[in-house]
This record gives sequence, C-alpha cells and structure tokens, in this order.
Amino acid sequence: MNSFNEEHTTIWSFKERGDWATHKGDYPGNCSPYIIKNILLKYSKEEDIVLDQFVGSGTTIIESLILNRRAIGIDINENAVSITTNRIKGINGKYKVFKGNATNLNLKDKYVDLICTHPPYMDIIKYSRGIQGDISLLNGYGFYNKIKDVAKESYRVLKNNKYCAIIMGDIRKKGFIIPVGFNVMEIFLKEGFLLKEIIIKEQHNCRSTEKWREVAKNKNFLLIQHEYIFVFQKAI
Ligand SMILES: C[S@@+](CC[C@H](N)C(=O)[O-])C[C@H]1O[C@@H](n2cnc3c(N)ncnc32)[C@H](O)[C@@H]1O
Repeated sequence: MNSFNEEHTTIWSFKERGDWATHKGDYPGNCSPYIIKNILLKYSKEEDIVLDQFVGSGTTIIESLILNRRAIGIDINENAVSITTNRIKGINGKYKVFKGNATNLNLKDKYVDLICTHPPYMDIIKYSRGIQGDISLLNGYGFYNKIKDVAKESYRVLKNNKYCAIIMGDIRKKGFIIPVGFNVMEIFLKEGFLLKEIIIKEQHNCRSTEKWREVAKNKNFLLIQHEYIFVFQKAI
C-alpha cells in the first residue's frame, strides 16, 4: 500500500494518485483516493453512512468500505454503477450502489453522516451522449440551476451538524476563466451550509496537460493546475 500521511494544511498535493485495493485511475475525471481518505478520516467515524451521489468509478465507496464506513453510491449513468459494483466485489462492508439522480435523491431526510462527492465540472467531460439528467451535458445557468437542486438535496439528506465535501474545479473557455468552483461554492452557501474549509488541491498527471501546454504558451494563458475541495457543514 502507498504511504499515507494525513493532511494538516489547506494545500493538498499527491504526486501519486494512489492505487491500493481496487482503486484505478482509468475513469475520466476520477479523483485520487488520497483526497477521499483524508475527508473520511477528518469528517466521519466508523459505521457512519457516507454518500457519494456522483459516484463515477466508486473511489469514495471503495475507501469508505476499507475504513469501515457504510457507503451509498449513486450515479445517473448505469455504466458508472456497474464499474463501482465490480470494484467493490470482494471488499467487506455494507453498501448500496444504484442508479439515481443527485438532483432528486431517493433517500430519507437527515439520513447521511457525510457527503463526499465530485460532480462534473460543467461540461468539460461529457459522461454520456444524452442520458436525461446528466449534468455533464449542461453549461452556464442550466448547470448552476441543477447544482442548486444538488445543494438542496445534500442539505436535506444530511444529519444536523454533519459535513458535505465537494470536489470542484474551474474551467477556461475561449481564453477566459469561468470560476465554476466559486460559483458552486456560493450556491451551497445560499442553501444554508456554512463553509468549514476551502482546500486547494494541486493537479498532477492530468491527461490533457501535454496537449494544452504548447497552446497555453503560444496564446499566453496559464494552465489550470488546481481544484478545490469545499467542506461545508450543516450547522444546526
Ligand atoms: C467527476 S465524475 C465522478 C468521478 C469519481 N469521483 C471517481 O473517482 O471515479 C462525475 C460523475 O457524475 C455523474 N453524473 C452526472 N450527472 C449526474 C446526476 N444528475 N446525478 C448523479 N450522477 C450524475 C457522471 O455520470 C459521472 O460519473
């Protein structure tokens, strides 16, 4: 297993993505299990119910089970549900992984102890060719309106005083930055969450970096090489 040291500052940087257990970096826009492990250790305890409603390839679910949390994974895309289900075969623990929509969760109020999730960064990676409800097909206000529903639902299903960690990044279009990260953060704050932390996570090994390096140099812009992890609390 890769070496692990818990983070203690607001800047996180993992040169190696992390490939212990069944973690793999092959799902588009996947996240490092080092992020998830840090979040789980800081904001949950054993037996807690952890939700990832944008589950992708299941990084949160794998890590939750390893750390003896109960896990719920949801994705709008059947393919993600089946990848996650395959990756957790053989790992002991209690979990549910199913198809669903993060904007309208099929979960009871105040059911979850921690949300740890990673929505699409607007439409920079499209996860389907037209699945209804897939927010990776949206941009601009269409995207932010759905994020508002995600924030509402996150607030509803979370127990009082518990945490909600969202990984989110900015994007660049036609040379200009769209601050998707801060816009999403504002939406969560408007729905009632308080902001516990803003963590800057350095990006490594991004597949598209090489392709863009030359363009960035020629057109005189900076490559985005960080993401945010916003940690919110439903402080009641
Ligand atoms: C950035 S990926 C998550 C990657 C994941 N953290 C991992 O490590 O594999 C975002 C996921 O959100 C899913 N998605 C898009 N719209 C959704 C919605 N409305 N409800 C649930 N999942 C959705 C996509 O299918 C995609 O799998």
